[in-house]
Amino acid sequence: MTSPHAGAARPHLFSDRTVEGYRRAMAEATARVAGRIRRADRPFSGVSPERLAPEIAAIDLERPLHDHAAALDELERVYLRDAVYFHHPRYLAHLNCPVVIPALLGEAVLSAVNSSLDTWDQSAGGTLIERRLIEWTAGRIGFGPAADGVFTSGGTQSNLHALLLAREEARTEAAPARLRVITSEAGHFSVRKAAKLLGLGPGAVVTVETDGERRMRPAALARELDRCHRAGQVVMAVVATAGTTDFGSIDPLPEIAALCEAAGVWLHVDAAYGCGLLVSRRRRRLLDGIERADSVTVDFHKSFFQPVSSSAVLVRDGAALRHAAHHADYLNPRRMAERGIPNQVDKSLQTTRRFDALKLWLTLRVMGPDAVGELFDEVVDRAAEAYDLVAADPRFEVVTRSPLSTLVFRYLPPDGPQHGGLGRKLADDANLYAREALAASGEAVVAGTTVGGRHYLKFTLLNPETTLDDVAHVLDLLAGHAQRYVDDLAPLAGSPEVTHVCS
Ligand SMILES: Cc1ncc(COP(=O)(O)O)c(C=O)c1O
Repeated sequence: MTSPHAGAARPHLFSDRTVEGYRRAMAEATARVAGRIRRADRPFSGVSPERLAPEIAAIDLERPLHDHAAALDELERVYLRDAVYFHHPRYLAHLNCPVVIPALLGEAVLSAVNSSLDTWDQSAGGTLIERRLIEWTAGRIGFGPAADGVFTSGGTQSNLHALLLAREEARTEAAPARLRVITSEAGHFSVRKAAKLLGLGPGAVVTVETDGERRMRPAALARELDRCHRAGQVVMAVVATAGTTDFGSIDPLPEIAALCEAAGVWLHVDAAYGCGLLVSRRRRRLLDGIERADSVTVDFHKSFFQPVSSSAVLVRDGAALRHAAHHADYLNPRRMAERGIPNQVDKSLQTTRRFDALKLWLTLRVMGPDAVGELFDEVVDRAAEAYDLVAADPRFEVVTRSPLSTLVFRYLPPDGPQHGGLGRKLADDANLYAREALAASGEAVVAGTTVGGRHYLKFTLLNPETTLDDVAHVLDLLAGHAQRYVDDLAPLAGSPEVTHVCS
């Protein structure tokens, strides 16, 4: 028999007796986050791991606070105060977007109901909603009715999943050491990780060169396909990128598709970043040819303004998904599949899986696809304006004009011999320093990368709230830090202070 006091004895367990506590706790959490967001005058506090680590280490996990407000007070100190805020217009670093409110609504609902998308008997409508979204995404890609796919934890998992299917579809007896995956030198590192996880040899991923715009050169791909064939190697997949991480470049998909079709090779398009174009009314054509892929990665948490995680892998022929299927008697026995019971675990690499699709569902139901595409178009427009700004600024050199929303550039010390060994080292060190000093100030957060072995700075613009004035301001800050390095710190290079700041 249930005790009449059971609810009071288990106040933290979410149940019909604790919904008032749930409501209060969620309202309290929302108020704290709203307060933080309203007050954040910079994207980051600049805290160092050395300063924050002792505060977190000092918390005694054996002694609970028994109170939401007290736990949230503590959280303010160890997390909310120093978190990196992607919604801030001067967060310009990685592929993190600000998120839309309908998606946050979805996040709140999905974690409270806590469906697990592995089987119908753990999710019911959740399964069907995910399936509708896969169908919708496949339609946007231009796949036919045989297409299918599944939500994943991110682009890394989507790429791994696609390459697993590609390997199985290659139907080859070739030893793993003879299998090859071809991508461009600007492709994402998760392709290499996937190859390793699939047990391919260390030289399995072959990169081909890119053109001046950092797009895969089809002629180089043709040469590599031919070379592999003559060497008795089996190309199990070509990975084209629609939105490279550093340059936002989009490989020439129609030409690459034609080469893959002629060679009978699986084409995977990594559109983790570029997938936002699927809902762009002005730029959808940049993805022309994607419909000829065998599989596609989309990261809704990069360019659909969704919270982490929200990603999917899609395949032109859904039958390929059978390669990831396993029928467990306790969970999804084969007889269920034969009866048409929709168990998503039959298609996924994961078993227990979040209902991340709900965030995209509510986004589409509240805002609609055009409004999401408009947000993405705005950031692409802003990046084009930012390119013009940097290109016209003699303090900087810029690499390429991105068709998406990145900007790779670097500060050039005005009086250093730019092309000599010492001048280059000075420029490298000044740019490295500027990035770190800026992050330490918390005024803005930018990324860095290397191009041709030299250190560059990178903006990834994903926030429509970022104005050109914000960009100009961050450029001034970077130039100030870099020049300070050149004037004051470079002469001391090697001193403990300088080594510390730049390490
Ligand atoms: C082109 C590309 N592919 C794949 C990934 C990996 O995605 P995730 O971080 O969601 O695993 C990234 C991440 O930045 C990316 O830029």
